[in-house]
Amino acid sequence: MASSCFKVLSSSPWIGHRSFAANPSASSPPPRVSFAIRAGAYSDELVQTAKSIASPGRGILAIDESNATCGKRLASIGLDNTEENRQAYRQLLLTTPGLGDYISGSILFEETLYQSTKDGKKFVDCLRDANIVPGIKVDKGLSPLPGSNQESWCQGLDGLASRSAEYYKQGARFAKWRTVVSVPCGPSALAVKEAAWGLARYAAISQDNGLVPIVEPEILLDGDHPIERTLEVAEKVWSEVFFYLAHNNVMFEGILLKPSMVTPGAEHKNKASPETVAEFTLTMLKRRVPPAVPGIMFLSGGQSEAEATLNLNAMNQSPNPWHVSFSYARALQNSVLRTWQGKPEKIEASQKALLVRAKANSLAQLGKYSAEGENEDAKKGMFVKGYTY
Ligand code: 13P
Repeated sequence: MASSCFKVLSSSPWIGHRSFAANPSASSPPPRVSFAIRAGAYSDELVQTAKSIASPGRGILAIDESNATCGKRLASIGLDNTEENRQAYRQLLLTTPGLGDYISGSILFEETLYQSTKDGKKFVDCLRDANIVPGIKVDKGLSPLPGSNQESWCQGLDGLASRSAEYYKQGARFAKWRTVVSVPCGPSALAVKEAAWGLARYAAISQDNGLVPIVEPEILLDGDHPIERTLEVAEKVWSEVFFYLAHNNVMFEGILLKPSMVTPGAEHKNKASPETVAEFTLTMLKRRVPPAVPGIMFLSGGQSEAEATLNLNAMNQSPNPWHVSFSYARALQNSVLRTWQGKPEKIEASQKALLVRAKANSLAQLGKYSAEGENEDAKKGMFVKGYTY
């Protein structure tokens, strides 16, 4: 369906689901705009999906750990990494009563997208019934980047269009692609360019198949650098990302971002206050992110649950050009795992623990969170050097 916001030229030849105006002939005067894009098949739907995820007081529950990473979570509470245990854990999370009050989207791993509850209800239907948009991690993880300073690049573009079309059929409406940039490794110009280009190709392919792309160049917390250095790297990374997003004709109204907050490196001698993190992060975003983008959904990156919430709250003390919210995995799941311990009789308490964190972050999205009464466990950091997903 063509969007009413963007003009399609009637003579446009189609390229995929997008339309481009024909090249002007050599004799005609050069037009001010050499080609017009837009009106992809899913434009209206992408805008609607992005808006519903970026809705007031809500954010994303990320549970898209690969089987290997989910195995690490399960091992931390003494459970084997079996499909049954992964299903039980995801069922606990996704069937939490009242979750949709605070959570607008949930990113799933491929296995989970096709799974059901023990009673046979598809997880995607559980989410839809709770007014939560199902999402899917589509990248295939990181590999060493030859020719770089021991950096990595993200795999998964081959076959992405057909996979995305299948995920859409299964009920997914947004996607996630996580690549990483390491400050202590440079980052090299090559690694930054590769990260940005991969994200942009993925974003264009996702939009072509009806999935709102979450654009996530995670700037790892690793390193002993000061916050000013993180700011510098983040500005560089996001400028390249937007350069290539534009070159790939990605519709900014139909994307979401998943940035790292701008903090000092995890091994830096000083910690930054939430006010400082908010100041640096918002400075970076305002310099780099156009207001057409509907939502900024931060990752937690190894911060403690309370820290991630406090930093988000500090960023919402005055109005921003975009919805500023969360897409946390570790900072939403940690208390749940600790409460659950794999025991059926602890499921209800674990779901309550998830709601406590989800509500805290919902309040932080509205700028109304107070850390009063937070338990000590929520203040424990979860940083792991060289963390993989
Ligand atoms: P956390 O950094 O919050 O664990 O999540 C990162 C991520 O990409 C999950 O989708």
